[in-house]
Amino acid sequence: MQKGPIAVFDSGYGGLTVLNKIVECLPKYDYIYLGDNARAPYGTRSFEVVYEYTLQAVEKLFSMGAHLVILACNTASAKALRSIQQKDLPIIDPDRRVLGVIRPSVESIDRLSHSKHVGVFGTVGTVLSESYPLEIQKLYPEIKVYQEACPMWVPLVENNEFRGEGADYFVSKNITNLLENNPLIDSVILGCTHYPLLIEKIKKFLPNYIKILEQGDIVGKSLKEYLQRHPEMETKCLKGGNVKFYTTESVDKFEQTAGIFFNGELNVEHLVL
Ligand code: DGL
Repeated sequence: MQKGPIAVFDSGYGGLTVLNKIVECLPKYDYIYLGDNARAPYGTRSFEVVYEYTLQAVEKLFSMGAHLVILACNTASAKALRSIQQKDLPIIDPDRRVLGVIRPSVESIDRLSHSKHVGVFGTVGTVLSESYPLEIQKLYPEIKVYQEACPMWVPLVENNEFRGEGADYFVSKNITNLLENNPLIDSVILGCTHYPLLIEKIKKFLPNYIKILEQGDIVGKSLKEYLQRHPEMETKCLKGGNVKFYTTESVDKFEQTAGIFFNGELNVEHLVL
């Protein structure tokens, strides 16, 4: 058995916010990050397309030596993860694993909410998939979930407008929409890779008493626990402390924008899916 890096996949740049936290939490491992920038965003795409694209990425990352792939993208986790885990993995390689970001986020929400009324911000795709309400219902049937699709939040971040006045307008609008009819909400999940970059705006418009669940930290911690619980997987992971980036778009473009999302050095290569 050849050891391999841990792979982190996202539709584009947003997963870098998750990778930041994973590397912070588990700095010793080797990572490869793949952003399908040429085909992003996934948030508005159909189930079939997100599944097809995500499966292609997972197979590619396996072929590059990864035994463990983290779908940092909420939309891919919502629309493709279950099928890949249940249908494809047993055929491709039952010893490899694909994990998502929704389950670890959902597991933490019970500790955060006292009113048991929880809000979720996400892309249109994530909201329509109903993945958050369904997963929360399974674990905590007493929790009521209210979702708000925020189609403008990703473009604001991608276009480096997340500090501008346009961001104020859209963030306040979506927060008002969510809270208007659901005054009992006392915590919200930022169910999209890009939203941590809007955190200052979100805090500006969200009442102080509402707690915010950001995914990066949670995914980092949950991966650490996963590797402790699964020594058979942990031993397959390379530990050189290297991070390598791949994009389906141009390397130059990736390097220009990725710095908004990732704190470390960027070593980028183009890749075709
Ligand atoms: N990465 C996606 C997510 O977390 C947001 C960007 C996209 O729509 O592709 O849902």
